Formats: sequence, C-alpha cells, structure tokens
Amino acid sequence: MVNIGILGCGRIGQVHARSVAQSEGAVVTVVADAFEAPAAELAARIGCQVLDADALIQSADVDAVIIGTPTDTHYDLIHAAAKAGKAIFCEKPVDMSADRIRDCIKAVETSGVAFMTAFNRRFDPNFANVRARITAGEIGNVELVTIQSRDPSPPPISYIKSSGGLFRDMMIHDLDMARFLLGEEPVSVYAVGSSLVDPAIGEAGDVDTAAVTLTTASGKICQISNSRRATYGYDQRIEVHGANGMLRAENMLENTVESATESGFRRAPAQHFFLERYEAAYRAEIAEFVTALNAGSQANPSIHDGLRAQVLADAATKSYETGKPVSVR
Ligand SMILES: NC(=O)c1ccc[n+]([C@@H]2O[C@H](COP(=O)([O-])OP(=O)(O)OC[C@H]3O[C@@H](n4cnc5c(N)ncnc54)[C@H](O)[C@@H]3O)[C@@H](O)[C@H]2O)c1
Repeated sequence: MVNIGILGCGRIGQVHARSVAQSEGAVVTVVADAFEAPAAELAARIGCQVLDADALIQSADVDAVIIGTPTDTHYDLIHAAAKAGKAIFCEKPVDMSADRIRDCIKAVETSGVAFMTAFNRRFDPNFANVRARITAGEIGNVELVTIQSRDPSPPPISYIKSSGGLFRDMMIHDLDMARFLLGEEPVSVYAVGSSLVDPAIGEAGDVDTAAVTLTTASGKICQISNSRRATYGYDQRIEVHGANGMLRAENMLENTVESATESGFRRAPAQHFFLERYEAAYRAEIAEFVTALNAGSQANPSIHDGLRAQVLADAATKSYETGKPVSVR
C-alpha cells in the first residue's frame, strides 16, 4: 500500500485525491496547501491529516507526493521531495524553464526516486486506443498527425500574465501528444500565433490562437491547432494518417442523442472542459503511478518526457517570436 501526500488542494489536487481514493494499492494520508481552508476541506472529505508542505514531505506517513501546486512552486517541492526520498507525481509543466527541469532531473536521478510527469491525455481511453493500434501496425508507418485542441473560453487575464504563454501553458499537452503519436522525435518546429479571441491577451504579450507544424528527421509531420475559445465546448480531436489507413478520435459529447428535423441533424455540445473530458484519464494516470510504485517499475511519462515537451514549447515560442522554423535536438 502506497501512502500518498498531496501538495496543493486546488482544482487538480482534488481530482487526484478522488483518483487515489478510487485506486487499488494507495491511500492519501496527508494533504498540504498554502492556505488553511482548501487543505482542511479536502482532509475532512477524505479523512486524512493536514500538515504544511515541508512537514508533509518529511512525514514518515508519506511514501510518495502528488505535486498539484502552481507551476512556479514545482522546482523547490521536487528538490525537497527527492532529497527526502519520496516518489514524485508532478503536474505539467514540470517547470517553465528547460534548464530548471534539467536541474530537477539531476536531483531526481541522484536520489533515485520514482518520478512521473502528469501528461494525463496519454491515458485518455480513446487516445490510448489510437496509440495502441498504431503500435500494433494497423495503419502502417505514421505519416501525418493532426491535433485539434481548443478551450471553451480563455482563462482570466491574471492567469494569462503568469502562464508562460499559450505554447508553454496550453500547447504543452499537445506537444507531448505529438511525441506520443509520432513515435519519433520532432527536429523542427514552426509556429504562428495571433490574438483574435481577446485583444487583452495580445496586450498581455500572449496569443490566443496558434498553429504549429512539427517535422521529424524521417519527414513525419504533425500539425497542432490551438484556440482559447470554442463556442461548442472543449474541442479535443486527433487524427493519425499512416501508409495503410487512418485513425481518428472524435470529441466526447455531453450525450450521444442526435435529433433530426427538416432543418437538419443536431447533436450535443462537446463536454465542457478538462475536468469532465479527462476524468477517466486522470483516474488512469494515478492508477499507473500507483501500479508502477507497487511493482518497483518506472512509471511513464517520465521526467524526460516533461523536459522534451518543454523544449518543444520553448522552440514554438521562439519560432512565433522570430517568424522562422526552429531546429531542436
Ligand atoms: N494536467 C491537467 O490537465 C492540469 C489541469 C489543471 C492544472 N494543471 C496543473 O496543476 C497545477 C495546479 O493547477 P490548479 O489549476 O490546480 O491550481 P489551483 O490554483 O486551483 O490550486 C493550486 C493550490 O496550490 C496551493 N499552493 C500554492 N503554493 C503552494 C505550496 N508552496 N505548497 C502547498 N500548496 C500550495 C494553492 O493555495 C492552491 O490551493 C499547475 O501546475 C497546472 O499547470 C494541470
């Protein structure tokens, strides 16, 4: 049985607490938050201790930590948890800077603790099915990957200002998905972006609409389309075209009822946002972490996957800023 401490009891910390409760082989023993109320509320709901973050990391009642705090706190918490010998499940992005992630890799590898990066979309049942069928050879060699990923509405401007920009904050998930589906590392990144949804996002120095083209050494191509607004709900679709066919995963809708009248066919909107859309994926990623810890095996995606996605996000940002393709190694 793995005893888990949750750092950060906000949106994602609560999701992970629920997933641990539903998993076999793990239990949340301690939670911590920078504020008293979120930690006390979550602890009361699941029945566990509340400690401050340092005490949680040092606690003998904790074997592994789930880091669900804001991104700019991950670096220090990873270093402290690695030093204390605790296994780590860390939210994406691991950090906003690739160099700081490299520091985290050193700390994790020196201490030898397990580390999993929370790229939950790999665990979405439909996307995982696409990947498994690519691996089984169903469509032959992958040639083109298309990823459409659009949020229902933009976050507050205060969030945009500290987010690190669309490529690092939002597209990071899609850049990891691109690697997951291409099966080969991208070597070139070309990005364009605009502020079309809200001029305030442009004034804050960010974009709300972006497209990226990734190319691998053998010439495989991935196109990613992002928007901070989709009037029809959270738009999450992927398509993989290969030498022998195509695999496509469509949106999950609020329901599957279709109506037909003389004016045409109508279906429900897409599930509203990530908490609903990826509920199964959040559960499955925690199950993977717990299973790997109990088996003593490496859980994936690893911290190196966290670094690769960040390197691609940095390259996309640079390409957008310079208007030129950027090579990545
Ligand atoms: N994988 C996903 O789909 C997904 C979705 C949402 C957020 N995230 C990531 O999860 C992280 C948290 O995002 P969120 O939306 O849950 O934020 P949030 O603001 O809802 O929650 C963060 C919580 O951490 C607490 N906190 C801040 N500093 C702390 C510290 N040093 N120690 C302990 N607690 C601290 C805050 O008080 C807050 O309650 C971010 O890195 C974000 O990128 C990932």
